[in-house]
Amino acid sequence: MKFSNVLVSGAILSSAASAASTTKSIPSSCTINSSKATATAQTDLDAFSGCETLVGDLTITGDLGNAAIATVKKIEGSLKVFNATNLNTLAADALEEVTDSLILQQLTILYSASFGSLSSVDSIQLVTLPALQTFTSTLESASEIIISDTSLESIEGFSNLQTVSTFNINNNKYLTEIDSSLKNITTSLILSSNNKETEASFDDLTWANNITISAVASLSFESLKKVNASFSVLNNTIDSLDLSKLTTVGGSLSFEENNDLTSLDCKNLTTVGGALVIGNNTDLTNIDGFANVTTIAGALEVIGSFHNLDLSSLKSVKGGADIETTATNFTCSAIDKLHSNGVIEGDSYQCSVPVSSSSSSSSSSSTSASSSSTHSSTMKTSTTSGASSSSRSLTSHGAAVGSFENASFVSIFYAIAAVLVSLL
Ligand SMILES: *[C@@H]1O[C@H](CO)[C@@H](O)[C@H](O)[C@H]1NC(C)=O
Ligand SMILES: *[C@@H]1O[C@H](CO)[C@@H](O)[C@H](O)[C@H]1NC(C)=O
Ligand SMILES: *[C@@H]1O[C@H](CO)[C@@H](O)[C@H](O)[C@H]1NC(C)=O
Ligand SMILES: *[C@@H]1O[C@H](CO)[C@@H](O)[C@H](O)[C@H]1NC(C)=O
Ligand SMILES: *[C@@H]1O[C@H](CO)[C@@H](O)[C@H](O)[C@H]1NC(C)=O
Ligand SMILES: *[C@@H]1O[C@H](CO)[C@@H](O)[C@H](O)[C@H]1NC(C)=O
Ligand SMILES: *[C@@H]1O[C@H](CO)[C@@H](O)[C@H](O)[C@H]1NC(C)=O
Ligand SMILES: *[C@@H]1O[C@H](CO)[C@@H](O)[C@H](O)[C@H]1NC(C)=O
Ligand SMILES: *[C@@H]1O[C@H](CO)[C@@H](O)[C@H](O)[C@H]1NC(C)=O
Ligand SMILES: *[C@@H]1O[C@H](CO)[C@@H](O)[C@H](O)[C@H]1NC(C)=O
Ligand SMILES: *[C@@H]1O[C@H](CO)[C@@H](O)[C@H](O)[C@H]1NC(C)=O
Repeated sequence: MKFSNVLVSGAILSSAASAASTTKSIPSSCTINSSKATATAQTDLDAFSGCETLVGDLTITGDLGNAAIATVKKIEGSLKVFNATNLNTLAADALEEVTDSLILQQLTILYSASFGSLSSVDSIQLVTLPALQTFTSTLESASEIIISDTSLESIEGFSNLQTVSTFNINNNKYLTEIDSSLKNITTSLILSSNNKETEASFDDLTWANNITISAVASLSFESLKKVNASFSVLNNTIDSLDLSKLTTVGGSLSFEENNDLTSLDCKNLTTVGGALVIGNNTDLTNIDGFANVTTIAGALEVIGSFHNLDLSSLKSVKGGADIETTATNFTCSAIDKLHSNGVIEGDSYQCSVPVSSSSSSSSSSSTSASSSSTHSSTMKTSTTSGASSSSRSLTSHGAAVGSFENASFVSIFYAIAAVLVSLL
């Protein structure tokens, strides 16, 4: 069984276009009737060797070793190559355009896919191609690009693209370089779980709807001015990030668990439309890259080991604030002032630093807006003071730490305190 019956009876070649427009004997437009055909052998594909345009959706699957589509320049429909587990190579080097999607999926030994003339597709999905080492194209226009679970070492063949809707590159274990010249990403940019050494640069990108970046070793957005929705940089090994052109993030902005990060520059950023979260970046001790931020429409959360946090332009935080550092010489006074001045509008507020032997008045904390005028350190516990000194710190004012904030710890803490009190 080679072609499906539909194709055998139908696709062999309704030649309206060639009859109307040329005197050549071969048809230039071939219609796949019922709009779908399945090819399972090269001879099935050879049936299209006279065609320049194929109208309909073509699926290639089954037991082929190599597959070539020689003369077709345009597919008015989709091309899906799927579950051909013996397929080594795929070539469609005359193909210039696929009006719908190009999908290569579940081709376990495919190592080369060549679309040397392909300049336009609607969406392109390269998914579960664990042996794929080369993919060639000259794309200028595509709406969605998804590359997942391949052996590609770099993302090439997309360098002429200026705008895409989605650019989602994940789980490509050998991918070490993503060098993109995209200018606009109208829906999402996602990089995750590729090689941990991946160096990613999007230096022409000025606008993106949302961005999520994980597991890269370097990251560059030299031109990025605006992120319309959320922007998240999570669990990377980058040591610095320069976002100095960025002025606005329409949704939440978060930098979390980037444990090599020592320098983070958002110096032109003024507005964050959601939460601003800077958390658990263990080496980020000086947070001075947010000094122009005036407005945060969500909550403010800064957790880490920073001794400096410059938010000197801040005029409005619609949510609460949670500031926690392990640096003993951080002082909460500036952020406390923002809270008492009403700049931080949300209900929950805390700023905590570790208890240090020499400082007893530099920090304050509270867990709700209503408690801002009350002494509230009894709800906080100190990792550095330890359980042995806890019955004293329960009633003391001032220094407090929030490393163990959760209810179970607090209740255990109170239980221990109660026992100690009863022993007295
Ligand atoms: C293929 O479809 C066209 C238009 O839908 C129709 O005119 C033609 O008869 C069909 N050919 C076959 C072989 O079914
Ligand atoms: C993939 O192809 C194999 C045979 O080559 C077949 O047994 C299996 O059902 C196919 N899987 C899917 C999801 O089509
Ligand atoms: C990027 O695309 C979005 C959505 O189409 C549009 O609103 C935005 O203005 C574009 N940005 C640039 C810089 O072209
Ligand atoms: C990015 O934007 C798209 C379109 O608005 C949305 O579907 C998707 O959930 C967003 N992703 C994230 C991580 O916010
Ligand atoms: C920008 O983000 C908002 C909120 O997520 C969304 O409603 C809007 O459609 C986005 N604008 C563009 C041009 O994508
Ligand atoms: C961070 O990434 C590493 C690999 O890059 C992974 O092993 C780890 O589970 C990730 N951690 C989190 C919290 O996602
Ligand atoms: C910051 O923004 C201003 C005004 O939008 C611009 O003139 C300046 O060049 C920007 N700075 C950087 C480093 O991009
Ligand atoms: C704030 O942005 C202006 C440009 O708009 C820049 O000149 C200035 O250095 C920035 N301030 C800080 C503290 O980074
Ligand atoms: C920081 O790490 C702790 C423990 O893994 C986690 O509970 C917390 O949500 C993290 N906070 C941020 C802002 O990433
Ligand atoms: C706090 O301590 C760090 C070293 O732990 C030091 O680099 C920094 O300058 C100190 N900051 C202040 C304000 O004293
Ligand atoms: C409280 O903290 C402990 C230890 O960090 C953790 O195992 C537990 O899941 C936390 N409970 C809650 C409710 O967050």
